[in-house]
Amino acid sequence: MSAKVAKARDRFGNFGFVLAAAGSAIGLGNIWKFPYIAYENEGGSFVVVYLLAILLIGAPIMLAEVVIGRRTEQSPVGAFLALAKSSGTSKGWSWVGWLGILAGFTILSYYAVIAGWTAYYFVKCLGWSMSGFTPEIADSLGPSFGAFLANGWLQTGLQVFFIAITVGVVAMGVKGGIERTTKILMPVLFAVLVLLAVVSSRTAGFSEALNFLFHIGPITADGALEAIGHAFFTLSLGMGAMITYGSYVSRRQSLPRAAVTICFLDTLIALLASLIMFSIIFSVPEAAREETFTKSATILFTTLPRMFYAMPGGAILSPVFYLLVSFAALTSTISLLEVIVSYFIDVKGWARRKATVFVGALICLFGVPSALSLGASSFFSDLTFKGNGGFLSIVDYLASNWFLPLGGLGIALFTGWWLAKNLSRDEIEIGHGKFALYGVWLFLLRFVCPLAIGWIIWAVLGGRSFA
Ligand code: PHE
Repeated sequence: MSAKVAKARDRFGNFGFVLAAAGSAIGLGNIWKFPYIAYENEGGSFVVVYLLAILLIGAPIMLAEVVIGRRTEQSPVGAFLALAKSSGTSKGWSWVGWLGILAGFTILSYYAVIAGWTAYYFVKCLGWSMSGFTPEIADSLGPSFGAFLANGWLQTGLQVFFIAITVGVVAMGVKGGIERTTKILMPVLFAVLVLLAVVSSRTAGFSEALNFLFHIGPITADGALEAIGHAFFTLSLGMGAMITYGSYVSRRQSLPRAAVTICFLDTLIALLASLIMFSIIFSVPEAAREETFTKSATILFTTLPRMFYAMPGGAILSPVFYLLVSFAALTSTISLLEVIVSYFIDVKGWARRKATVFVGALICLFGVPSALSLGASSFFSDLTFKGNGGFLSIVDYLASNWFLPLGGLGIALFTGWWLAKNLSRDEIEIGHGKFALYGVWLFLLRFVCPLAIGWIIWAVLGGRSFA
């Protein structure tokens, strides 16, 4: 925490922060998880509750995280320690930072496994596009996906591959690595998604997909809870990723505007991805549909390829699509790694390269049980905890249901009740001017967020899983 370290701190350039933070937020949560939970909860009202959760819980906590980050110019643990020193809050709040490190470590270890599938499917689809996608291939998609999951060497290799790329980017630093990568990947991602959305608007299932997503229908308490839980995951909140990225933001930038833009882009992509997937899926006859949707977690890999190759232009679009999902996953894994790496840089004074390689290697090791828990090792595959089968599901459950909501609760309470008001107001108004919604923001952090998160925790204790 010496002045020397603070001076040498890397910074995002214009747009760099918003793109990198949107890159962190937009990931498998948007493209893989959101469409399937929206389907499970019958679209419509679930989407409305999700939008409210983003607006009333996600956006305020997003702003709180970047305020803490930019004020202290520290990664999560260091940020709470620095605030304790400068504004008299308790050092004990650093538990929020530690929990963030634990969450980053846990999420990255299994997220990289799933991200590896997307990279693998990119290569697979390239092959199918060139050699032809035969009916035999289509019929064997389910079983061959099962065999792929059970191949321990391949799963571990893909996970290590994905972490290695992430390490490569993060080692190059905030501006030279993270910002440069997201500046290229994010626009490509937007462009391809818009292209896919245009293509899907010409499919037979498009109007049904639109109607499904935006009709007003019944909503259950469970669905509402799931929407709130997912808001944390999809916005990368509750684990300090936005504190860390916020610590690299210039004082010329408006934090409220950035926070709203990130939430907006993340939501837009989730809705676009759902529209695309539903249009493709609703284009098949209803009887076949039910059967494909029951395997929701693998839908991206067993159902979509079949549908891509059944539609015009699919041979080109399918590899492009999987490449894009890999990009989206990569800009998320980068932020997960950066949270932990920045701890070693900020608090321990390590060199970036050394910290990145060290943390990357640890995570590769910790990811092995997840990679082997999909059938390769019966020990890791058969573990169960609270109804979650397999090591990967268990760590996902712990991170999504416990670490993120608890971290979010800590950040909301700390910023709402403990952090001096003049300090938070001052930081928000730097680069923004008068913040008319300050009172609303504080109210949301003080009452609405804790109540909603308290509700999640109560529900989880009652056995409800968001994973
Ligand atoms: N937001 C990412 C997604 O939607 C996942 C993530 C969670 C990334 C937490 C960083 C921190 O896929």
